[in-house]
Amino acid sequence: MYDVSERSLNRRQFLKSSLALAAGVAALGPARVLGEDRDQCTRWAFLSDTHVAPDPDNHYRGFYPYRNLLEIAGRIAYDPPDGVVVTGDLARMRGQTGAYENLKTLLAPVTEQRPVYLGLGNHDNRDDFSLVFETALGDDMTVEEKRVITAVAGPMRLIVLDSLLVDRAAGLLGRSQRTWLKSFLEACDDRPTILFFHHRPRIDLLDTRRLFDIIEPAAKVKAVVYGHSHKFRFSEYKGIHLINVPATGYNMSDSQPVGWVEARLTEKSGQFTLHALGGNRELDGCSENLCWRS
Ligand SMILES: [Fe+2]
Repeated sequence: MYDVSERSLNRRQFLKSSLALAAGVAALGPARVLGEDRDQCTRWAFLSDTHVAPDPDNHYRGFYPYRNLLEIAGRIAYDPPDGVVVTGDLARMRGQTGAYENLKTLLAPVTEQRPVYLGLGNHDNRDDFSLVFETALGDDMTVEEKRVITAVAGPMRLIVLDSLLVDRAAGLLGRSQRTWLKSFLEACDDRPTILFFHHRPRIDLLDTRRLFDIIEPAAKVKAVVYGHSHKFRFSEYKGIHLINVPATGYNMSDSQPVGWVEARLTEKSGQFTLHALGGNRELDGCSENLCWRS
């Protein structure tokens, strides 16, 4: 994940946000504190599968991922939420430094104002990613060979996990990351928590059962957000909301949108609004309201 909150946060603009009323500035270190007022609503943009290539003209199924992200980042930057999470498959094929350089440039209008947390997917390459986003390395290495970010944003806690399994399309959190997660959840307060990673629970995430053995009893975990399928979908498993974020790069089926999800999160619930700029735009602007389990 890449977190630019420490370096690039525009303090004046940040202070204008609802979060900043209570927060001040983001804290250094793995546990970012963007605001602690639990009565607040925090607004985030959830993106996935940006699939940016070294060549800006790279296209697939009639979609141009570079141009899509250029437009989306511009829209987000115009009315910036409190932060952005991208759940992996940042790069187009096998993750090259040119792809990550382009990604960094495309996200700059947002990262200059707000924290952006980047997860890794099966099309990403840790070494190439790290070469471009090296400034984030030091305090992200909470778990050996995995990249984890935690943040507190108003009433919510966000945990970005790493499901990239090298040279495999499927994903795995792995024992060390699961062990860390279990300990972390036991130690942190009862703030409603959302987990983020790339792969789909029960389908592509190979250690789904072991993950849910940890998070099902942890009532503070309310939802899991992921990508990979290039589909927009809500479901529920063991009382935990599963939110599949569409791709910004391209869809795999004409029935699916290309775009991102805007989330308004409170201590009790979340409202998730689709912003579709391509593909099936039928649900553009439509919202799904989810209540957190108790
Ligand atoms: Fe993808």
